Amino acid sequence: MKIGNIMISQEELEKGVSRLAEEVNRDYKGKEVIVLGILKGCFVFMADLIKKLNSDVSVYFMEVSSYFDGTVSTGKIKIKKDIDVDIKGKDVLIVEDIIDSGNTLTQLKEILAEREPASIKICTLLSKPSRRQVELEAEYTGFVIEDKFIIGYGLDCGERFRQLPYIAEVEFVDE
Ligand code: IMP
Ligand code: MG
Repeated sequence: MKIGNIMISQEELEKGVSRLAEEVNRDYKGKEVIVLGILKGCFVFMADLIKKLNSDVSVYFMEVSSYFDGTVSTGKIKIKKDIDVDIKGKDVLIVEDIIDSGNTLTQLKEILAEREPASIKICTLLSKPSRRQVELEAEYTGFVIEDKFIIGYGLDCGERFRQLPYIAEVEFVDE
């Protein structure tokens, strides 16, 4: 497995993140916002994003994974790390690296909605709409991409390549 074509350069990422931050700043002007990152993929994007936010920001993280029944994905998620703050009446902004099938965030939104926040919105760096299994659109989307497996800027393939400052396709080669 190796780094393939660069799909989104460092400069393009920077512009995309700035545009997302402008949209978020416009909508959350003067508000207190709980910025909730979904680990691990979000961490590089979220670090860059929050530096550009000018509302009253508090940062939290959750970690979720697909629940496997034997070796088959049930499509159900498991919370591996939860938040220890009461979000009732608060405005929550979920920060995610990529929306693929949409299963993870659809279920996470349902779980969080039971805690009665004032609002829940999603800010995703990337979206692959052609892969959706459930209807889900983020309020803020950085880049819409085609159905390719990608790495870098926090996204991994088998835990590798998260450190790349750009987004690239992964190339599967015989080793
Ligand atoms: P889904 O929307 O529930 O299918 O899952 C989205 C999650 O799958 C993301 O948060 C990523 O962790 C992972 N994922 C989906 N597509 C890619 C990709 O192209 N590269 C790396 N991770 C991906
Ligand atoms: Mg993820």
